[in-house]
Amino acid sequence: MRAAHITQYGDPEEALALVHVERPEPGPGEVRVDVEAVALNHLDVFARKGHPEDEGAFPKRSGCDIAGVVGSVGDGADTDWLDEAVVVYPGVSCGDCEFCERGEQTMCHEYEIIGEDRPGGLAESVVVPEACLEQKPDSLNFVTAAAVPVTFTTAWRMIVGAGQLRPAEKALILGASGGVGNAALQIAERLGATTYATTSSERKADRVREWADEVIDYTETPHDEAVLALTDGRGVDLVAEHVGEETWQESIDSLAMGGRMVVCGATSGADPDIDIRSIYQRHRQIRGAPMGNRAQFRDVLSLVARGELEPQIDRVLPLDRIAEGHRAIEDRAVFGKVVLRP
Ligand SMILES: NC(=O)c1ccc[n+]([C@@H]2O[C@H](COP(=O)([O-])OP(=O)(O)OC[C@H]3O[C@@H](n4cnc5c(N)ncnc54)[C@H](OP(=O)(O)O)[C@@H]3O)[C@@H](O)[C@H]2O)c1
Ligand SMILES: [Zn+2]
Repeated sequence: MRAAHITQYGDPEEALALVHVERPEPGPGEVRVDVEAVALNHLDVFARKGHPEDEGAFPKRSGCDIAGVVGSVGDGADTDWLDEAVVVYPGVSCGDCEFCERGEQTMCHEYEIIGEDRPGGLAESVVVPEACLEQKPDSLNFVTAAAVPVTFTTAWRMIVGAGQLRPAEKALILGASGGVGNAALQIAERLGATTYATTSSERKADRVREWADEVIDYTETPHDEAVLALTDGRGVDLVAEHVGEETWQESIDSLAMGGRMVVCGATSGADPDIDIRSIYQRHRQIRGAPMGNRAQFRDVLSLVARGELEPQIDRVLPLDRIAEGHRAIEDRAVFGKVVLRP
């Protein structure tokens, strides 16, 4: 089968290779999903460029967001899955530790991500645990279904789970043109909160206005200044942060007294230079919010299936144009998701 491998760190054109490998067969408790669509995330870019937490063993295959059809089931897996259209929850966990029992799969000490710790979906087929399968809602095509798992499940934890945003509150969403940012903005808007969103160009701002009450072009005004001006100096109740060291202090300074900042990523780097007094003196809280749990994935998938939330698909590409997808994400030339069709 064809697969897209990362063979070294570097630019997309050098580091990515289309290869032919043997089609994998599922072991006990596993299934083989024949991939119809797989969405890229910033994580795919990190895997190619190198990341402090990356082990750098090559070749490797990313691709966390998978939708497809079950082509084969291993021993012990339910044969009813055969030929079913599915979406894959990307988290794999032990299933019986204290965190798994609580339903918090991403807290499990054995937690792994398909497409990061295990071979991902950038191939014609991928083997995944049966436990990760979710029926693809009939109302969603494969491309839209593949755009849901990582971004919407993470955004759901940020806004609803860890963030506990309420309709009467104000929320600031960073990078609202990106995968996680746009999902978070849609969820905050759907909840009825007043939404402030940052982006970097007029073209992106036009699209972001569909869900944001106020759009901030941070290339013109630092976002904390803009937020304070827009809220009569009060600030917002919640900030959804994923940009990292470039924006942390401004994001903290955008918070109202007692406000919460939820964090799922650090695209620009993870070592911010911050004033910790700006946290405790104002009763502010910073909460970690990595990808949501299985129940949160189901909740958000069903809202997308009902059309309440709508993944934004920037472009759909064949697997052999994967470098173009990586390049577009790295250059911040996308709005929403890049989806590949192996
Ligand atoms: N922990 C988890 O489970 C988890 C899950 C999902 C994502 N994440 C993390 O969340 C972050 C966002 O992921 P994503 O897939 O949504 O990325 P993405 O689609 O590439 O979006 C990132 C957005 O951030 C904005 N941005 C602002 N400053 C930036 C900078 N210095 N470099 C790059 N982008 C910048 C860009 O929009 P503008 O140009 O308009 O500002 C861009 O659209 C990543 O760090 C990712 O690893 C973590
Ligand atoms: Zn566990």
